[in-house]
Parts: sequence; C-alpha cells; structure tokens
Amino acid sequence: MRITLSDKVVDALNQQVNNEFAAAYKYLALAAHFEDLNFPGFANWMYVQREEENTHAMRLFNFLLEHGVKIQLHNIEMPEMHFENVVEVLEFVLEQEHNVTQQVFNLYELAMAEKAYTVKIEMEWFISEQAEEENLVNSVLERARMVADDPAGLLVLDNELATRTFTAPTAE
Ligand SMILES: [Fe+2]
Ligand SMILES: [Fe+2]
Repeated sequence: MRITLSDKVVDALNQQVNNEFAAAYKYLALAAHFEDLNFPGFANWMYVQREEENTHAMRLFNFLLEHGVKIQLHNIEMPEMHFENVVEVLEFVLEQEHNVTQQVFNLYELAMAEKAYTVKIEMEWFISEQAEEENLVNSVLERARMVADDPAGLLVLDNELATRTFTAPTAE
C-alpha cells in the first residue's frame, strides 16, 4: 500500500517543483547574462547551479510519483533582472536562495502539521542542501566583493569559477 499525501501537501510540493524549476531558469538567465559580459567562468558557475536546481526539481518530481501523485506543472515566472555589476548579481542569487530556504522551512512545518512523515524526511534533505547552497553563494559573494573594483581580480575569480563541475548529489 502506498503512503498517501493530503491535498494540501500535494499542492505545496507541486508548487515547490515549480519553484525549483523557476530557480533553474533564473540561473540559466544569469548564465546568459555572464556570457554576454564575457565572463565564461561566472557563466559556468551559473550553468552548474542550474543543473543543481534541475536535480532538486526532479528529486521532488520523483518523490511525488512514488506517492502516486499526478504532477501538475505550472507556468514559470521570471522576475525583471537588471544588474550594475557582479556583486549585484550574487546578492540577487543569495536572496533567491534565502527565499527557497524559507519555502523549504514552510514545507517542513506543513509536513509536521499534516503528519506527512515521508515529506518531513524529504525536507530534511532539502534543509541540509539549502544550508550548503547558501554557504556556497555566500563565499562567492564575499570574494566578488573583495575584487569588485579590480578588473584583474575579477578575471582571476572568473578563472576559478570556470573550474566548477556538476556532480549529481547523492540520494541520501
Ligand atoms: Fe534548489
Ligand atoms: Fe538553490
């Protein structure tokens, strides 16, 4: 017998699938932004981040399938994005990740309220993942701030970010 989820929980998880795909889409837009500015390393970092978000979305997608849910995909909303410099982009990214963390916390609280224990366990994975993501973004932001007014420094950082590769997160 399958563990069934309440409509409230299903709706919220469906929305989170959308949120993760929206995050992936934003990172892709930011990759395009950096490609345009001739910062291939920053673009690469955004592509990798996009892969991460895609993985998150598909992880939730499969979680819903395992619970026998018919998944509903919604439209993806894109915010207006105008940036004066690299630091502003990374501040935007950090704020995005903060928002996602809050979404995950809300899902965790909903899972508790609805006694949806499998969702609670799933959200524990996402909470750890968000802590890692925020840490990572924060460290790139801090370094970008250090070299914000120094083109040579920005190129060194760009070279460093070019080396990042995507590794699929482990299941547990
Ligand atoms: Fe994510
Ligand atoms: Fe993220």
